[in-house]
Amino acid sequence: MSLNPQEFMAKMEARMVFSTEDKAVLKAGADWGKEVAAEMADHFYDYLGKDPEMNAIINAKEGRIHRLRETFIQWFLEMFTGIDDWGNQYAERRWRIGLVHVQIGIGPQHVVPAMATVVREVGNKLKAEGKNDELRNALGKICMIDLAFIEQAYVEVSSNAVLQETGWTEGLFRRLITTGAGQHAPA
Ligand code: HEM
Repeated sequence: MSLNPQEFMAKMEARMVFSTEDKAVLKAGADWGKEVAAEMADHFYDYLGKDPEMNAIINAKEGRIHRLRETFIQWFLEMFTGIDDWGNQYAERRWRIGLVHVQIGIGPQHVVPAMATVVREVGNKLKAEGKNDELRNALGKICMIDLAFIEQAYVEVSSNAVLQETGWTEGLFRRLITTGAGQHAPA
């Protein structure tokens, strides 16, 4: 079980129907992105700060929240520029962001509502400024692609850790998961 970020990116682009037009809309919106990035970071960390569990994570180390604000702004802007036109570098970067969160113990229950916050706040801002839906749609798609990277990193890293620790084969592991899911699913 090892993920190739470039292949994963290509698959997510196709599944999210992230088109050449979406990329052009994002690039054209890059200046707007710069204008609002700090405000979006404020919304994001206000939101995380209101949740006791997430608040504890983001304030666990001195200077972390300051660093996080900077990395958030950079991440936010990269969605508009695509770094290298949403190519290999973009995919590698998104994969790394996923791994960093897994290392800190941040799971789907944290990341999904956090990304929903970004989508909601961006939507509110665009609406308040009377902008059309094109940018909102394109941003929504790239946010979901970025979210898929973080979620997939969680699955890949946890699965690999179990395989390494136990020496199980991938086939056995998959069978155990399927059987376990069967036990939890309603009859
Ligand atoms: C929309 C979802 C999220 C995005 C886009 C995001 C973005 C980022 C980025 C770009 C980094 C820097 C990664 C690197 O060092 O290469 C980072 C690190 C981190 N994120 Fe997130 N994040 C998200 C959700 C969360 C949530 C929900 C939490 C807390 C519950 C969180 C806490 C952290 C922490 C603690 C770090 C490491 C900071 C350090 O360097 O000490 N993130 N995040």
